[in-house]
Amino acid sequence: MTKFSATTPIYYVNAKPHLGHAYTTIVADAVSRWHRLLGEDVHLLTGTDEHGLKIQQAADSAGVSPKEFADSIAPLFAQAWERLNITHDDFIRTTEPRHAAGVKKLLQACYDAGDIEADMYRGQYCVACEAYFIEEELIDGKCPIHMKETTYVEEENYFFRLSRFEDRLLKWYEDHPNAITPGFRMNEVIGFIKGGLHDFSVSRKTLTWGIPLPWDPSHVAYVWFDALANYITAVGYGTDDKAFAENWPVDYHFIGKDIIRFHCVYWPAMLMSAGIEPPKGWAVGGWLLVDGEKMSKTTGNVVNPLDLIDVVGVDGFRYYVLAETTYGNDGDFSDEGLIKRFNSDLANNLGNLAARVATVVEKKCGGIGPASSANSPLAAIAATAVAETAQAWATVQPSKALEATWKLISATNSYLEDNEPWKMEPGDAVNTVMGDALEALRIVTILANPALPTTTQEIWNRIGLTGNITDLRIHADTKWGQYTGGTTVVKGQPLFPRLTV
Ligand code: ME8
Ligand code: MG
Repeated sequence: MTKFSATTPIYYVNAKPHLGHAYTTIVADAVSRWHRLLGEDVHLLTGTDEHGLKIQQAADSAGVSPKEFADSIAPLFAQAWERLNITHDDFIRTTEPRHAAGVKKLLQACYDAGDIEADMYRGQYCVACEAYFIEEELIDGKCPIHMKETTYVEEENYFFRLSRFEDRLLKWYEDHPNAITPGFRMNEVIGFIKGGLHDFSVSRKTLTWGIPLPWDPSHVAYVWFDALANYITAVGYGTDDKAFAENWPVDYHFIGKDIIRFHCVYWPAMLMSAGIEPPKGWAVGGWLLVDGEKMSKTTGNVVNPLDLIDVVGVDGFRYYVLAETTYGNDGDFSDEGLIKRFNSDLANNLGNLAARVATVVEKKCGGIGPASSANSPLAAIAATAVAETAQAWATVQPSKALEATWKLISATNSYLEDNEPWKMEPGDAVNTVMGDALEALRIVTILANPALPTTTQEIWNRIGLTGNITDLRIHADTKWGQYTGGTTVVKGQPLFPRLTV
């Protein structure tokens, strides 16, 4: 069975989840769901990043221990993902023993390879990023990501000799030209490597909230070294060699562009040092902006995804984040944008199709769905929609995938408007039109299921079909002509009631 594995970043537990975290997680989930529909053996990993100075400071200001603090926030992420219908197969917390075991093994492997050495660190540190910066990277003395003052740090550290990996990384990327999607991010990474790599510190002596270095427990591992390792510790590195061999390398790390350097430069070098294969791919998303600025805990302009669910529902929210922005580019978040997209694509298009099909079947076909016909003009449109949707999901382009699926919805609505079955007398002609509309709707519910898991299943049930969409297979079950009819079609409550701004 073909395997497909994906990861989300593990999110810092310094504050509760916001829209940006939900965004990356929903994209990873929808892509994973698509691969499950293809019949693949899917593994989706998410989790929380719980060590480091940022968490220590957040715990200090809350007046609790870092572990207590992490224990109070980590469940909020797990709950948010449950609410958003995220189908992760594993949730790793970096405070778990299985993680510590793997981090120590990875550190030791790099140390034994001679790529970790003691040195003196002098330079700027941004706590929000948990990252060291060289002077020329700062903008007006501030961190380029958060525009926050950095602090001068001078301490004895262990360093990972990243500078030794320039050629190996360039060669690896040359051999794997499609590893980073979208492609323009690859150029960025190559440019960064060519600009010269600096060794980075992998330990902190002044911090206790972390995993002690196996050869020198007076230091704890630098939080990014610790965090990146989650991708391998979760699948058995350091605890279960067999599971690890079967589940690594991962197909895609889903990340935001803010952490591309850690994921596409540090991480493959760390793995190479330890004799482990780099990931197969990275899918790098842009930022969701509010009034042109990155939504972030540090900036404070965050939107709580759970509040938006109250307005547009879980599926409405999932659809919005998947359809609104091209994955890879920045996108603007606004309440008006959310409502506009909900009304146009869900209420007026998909919801309207489902409702009018049920209404006409009730009035003109005695409430029983007629079978689809072989030579419907919608058949070719459906085949194109399936092909384009599949191609777009395969290349991590959710907005394009949904656009392709929605072409079939629009075409079916137009088909009904052109034929006006509501004006016809009951009989063969109306049965043909409605059978075709039902068949198109059947295919749409399968194609749109990764984005709208609950409402597509609801439509499926309403058009008289049984079983779970998640048990169906793309291609075999999306071929035209499988709506056999003969079962009751019910209208039900509006799935996407129109919203006013
Ligand atoms: O960086 N728009 O965690 P984090 C889009 N713990 N995506 C956003 C976003 C926004 N405005 N804000 C956040 C960390 N994200 C580390 C990761 S992984 C080994 C360690 C998403 O809590 C995006 O995916 O700051 C980004 O990369 C991630 O949240 C950062 O989450
Ligand atoms: Mg961040």
